[in-house]
Amino acid sequence: MSNPSLLILPGDGIGPEVMAEVRKIIDWFGANRGLQFDVSEDLVGGAAYDVHGVPLSDETMAKAQEVDAVLLGAVGGPKYDNLDFSVKPERGLLRLRKEMDLFSNLRPAQCFDALADFSSLKKDVVAGLDIMIVRELTSGVYFGEPRGIFEEGNERVGINTQRYTESEIERVARSAFELAMRRNKKLCSMEKANVMESGILWREVVTRVGQEYPEVELSHMYADAGAMQLTRWPKQFDVIVTDNLFGDLLSDLAAMLTGSLGMLPSASLGAPMANGRPKALYEPVHGSAPDIAGQGKANPIACILSFAMALRYSFDQGAEADRLEAAVEKVLADGVRTADLLGEEGVSPVSTSQMGDAILAALD
Ligand code: NAI
Ligand code: MG
Repeated sequence: MSNPSLLILPGDGIGPEVMAEVRKIIDWFGANRGLQFDVSEDLVGGAAYDVHGVPLSDETMAKAQEVDAVLLGAVGGPKYDNLDFSVKPERGLLRLRKEMDLFSNLRPAQCFDALADFSSLKKDVVAGLDIMIVRELTSGVYFGEPRGIFEEGNERVGINTQRYTESEIERVARSAFELAMRRNKKLCSMEKANVMESGILWREVVTRVGQEYPEVELSHMYADAGAMQLTRWPKQFDVIVTDNLFGDLLSDLAAMLTGSLGMLPSASLGAPMANGRPKALYEPVHGSAPDIAGQGKANPIACILSFAMALRYSFDQGAEADRLEAAVEKVLADGVRTADLLGEEGVSPVSTSQMGDAILAALD
C-alpha cells in the first residue's frame, strides 16, 4: 500500500515560516511513529502569481484534487494589494475551496489551560473549553441568487438571498453528526427558524438526519441566543452546526474566547473520495501577517494544530493527533511563548523555530 499523500502549500508572508515548523513535525512522525507521508510542495497565492501569473495554477489545482489532504499556510500581502481582483492571492484559496467543494468547515475553540488568562472572559468560564463549530461553507447568503445592487424607483436596493437546498443541509448535518459520534455525542444546531424559512427547513432536515444517529443528543437553538450562550457558558456545547453566515460570526466569536489568532487551526472537508477519505484542506485561521513576516516572530502552533486535525480527520490517527496536541499543551504549560502569547512580565519570547523545536522536544 502506498503512503497517504499530503500537498503542502506554504503561500505568502508567515505561511512559509510556520510551514517549515510543520515539516519538522511531519518528519518526526515519520522517523518515530512509522507514519510516512508522500509530501509534495507547491505554490499558492502571491507566490504562485509571481511565477505563473495566477494565484493557483491548473497543475496545482489538479494535484490538490488527487492528494489525501492539502495543508495551506496563508496567502496575501501588501505587495499584491493592487492586483486585479481575478488574480488576487485570495482567489487561489477560494478556487481550492470551490473546486474541491469543501462544504463543511470545522473550527475548534479549545482553551489550553496555560493560556486561560489570555481570554477576555473569566478563567473558569474558558478553562478546559473544547468545542467545535461546523460551518456550512459553500452555500447560503454568500452565494444565493438573486444578488446585487439594483435601481428601484429613485433609490438603490442591495440584495442578497439566503438559499439552502435540502441536500446542502443534509450533507453538512451528516458531517456534524459524524463528528459528534467521534467526540461526545452532543450536537447543537443553530439557525433562526423563528424568522427565516431557510431556518425552518434547516431545523427539519437536521432533525431528520438525526434519526440516523440516535446516540447523538441533538438540540436546536436560535443563533442569536446561541451567541449569548457561547459567551455566557460555552462549556455547555460540544459540536455546533450552523449555516454559512451565522457560522462565520459564531466561529470567530468562539475562537476569540480562547486567545490568540496564532493558536487557531481549521479544517474544510468535502465529500468522501474513492478511498473513503473526505476531500480536505487544513489551514490556520490567521492570514499572512505582513507586519511580522520575515522576522521569525510568527507563532507556528495554529499551523501545527491544523496538521493535528489532518492526522485525526484525514488519516484516522486520532491517538497521534492527541500526542501532538499534548506536546503543544506541555510546551505552553512550561511557559514557552511566542511574542503573540506574551502577557506576563519578565518572559521573553521565543522565535518561530524555537517554538517548533520545543514542540519536537516535547514529542520526544
Ligand atoms: P492576519 O491574520 O494576517 O494578521 C492579524 C494580526 O494577527 C497581525 O497583527 C498579525 O501579526 C497577527 N498574527 C496573525 N497570525 C499570527 C501568528 N501565527 N503568530 C503571531 N501573530 C499572528 O490578518 P490581516 O492582517 O487582516 O491580513 C494580512 C494579509 O493576510 C492580507 O493580505 C489578508 O488578505 C490575508 N489573509 C489571508 C488569510 C488566509 O490565507 N486564509 C486569512 C486572513 C487574511
Ligand atoms: Mg470571518
